[in-house]
Amino acid sequence: MENLKGKTALVTGASRGIGGAIAQRFVDEGANVIMPSRNEMDLADVASVAQYVQAHANVPLDILVNNAAINPMTPLDEITPELLKAFEEVMTVNLESPFLLSIGFAPGMIERGGGSIINIASLWGILGRGNRALYSMSKHGLIGMTESLAQLLGPQKIRVNAVSPGFVGTDMTYQNLRPNQIEDIKQGTPLGELVPVGHIANAVLWLASAESGYITGQNIVVDGGWSNVGRIAPPK
Ligand SMILES: NC(=O)c1ccc[n+]([C@@H]2O[C@H](COP(=O)([O-])OP(=O)(O)OC[C@H]3O[C@@H](n4cnc5c(N)ncnc54)[C@H](OP(=O)(O)O)[C@@H]3O)[C@@H](O)[C@H]2O)c1
Repeated sequence: MENLKGKTALVTGASRGIGGAIAQRFVDEGANVIMPSRNEMDLADVASVAQYVQAHANVPLDILVNNAAINPMTPLDEITPELLKAFEEVMTVNLESPFLLSIGFAPGMIERGGGSIINIASLWGILGRGNRALYSMSKHGLIGMTESLAQLLGPQKIRVNAVSPGFVGTDMTYQNLRPNQIEDIKQGTPLGELVPVGHIANAVLWLASAESGYITGQNIVVDGGWSNVGRIAPPK
């Protein structure tokens, strides 16, 4: 299949994990895929993002996937320099940089008649999570940004959507969850396993392709049913 033949896509955080799978899927579908490394564009540094956008203003971008994010485990019990630093870094990488990339590349997309922006959000963008408050706040913001930009850019034929993965077996998940927690998640998921990364790539591919041409402002949850009909492990 060559669903994206002739299209140019930029995927952030494509060095590994979900971003790597999305980029590979796009290549398999015939797209020209740009995967800026952290050295080329540091998403924790808005000056670096602005500079990257300026230097690539002539790239004929059709698809932007804001995938990269961080999810640090920061103590939330008092105001410390560490907390302030983590707040700023999470909001910059997870929310501000996706916003700057979206509005930075939108004019070029408009010139070519439209495009598709896909933001990788999270279950923690629709549900709160106490000990991951910074991450959850940033992802709720990303979904708000998705809806707002969908309204703003729809008239210029840029569609803006989000994909919210459940628990995917990437570095982020294995760093943050203990084996017994991962087992509980599998037990509490109707489809019975962590989300296969290829299924996130499938949803993103669909939102990037013409087949989803009348879909905008949506958040597609890909979690095997955990968030709406799961969570409680079936009796053994
Ligand atoms: N894994 C899950 O279960 C899960 C669940 C829900 C949502 N998500 C979301 O899915 C997306 C991808 O997650 P993942 O699990 O694949 O993450 P990951 O394995 O931790 O990979 C993160 C990616 O982001 C890049 N990155 C981080 N900080 C950066 C910075 N300052 N500048 C440039 N690049 C930076 C990393 O680059 P380096 O290689 O240079 O570090 C890496 O490519 C994220 O938005 C995450 O919130 C994941």
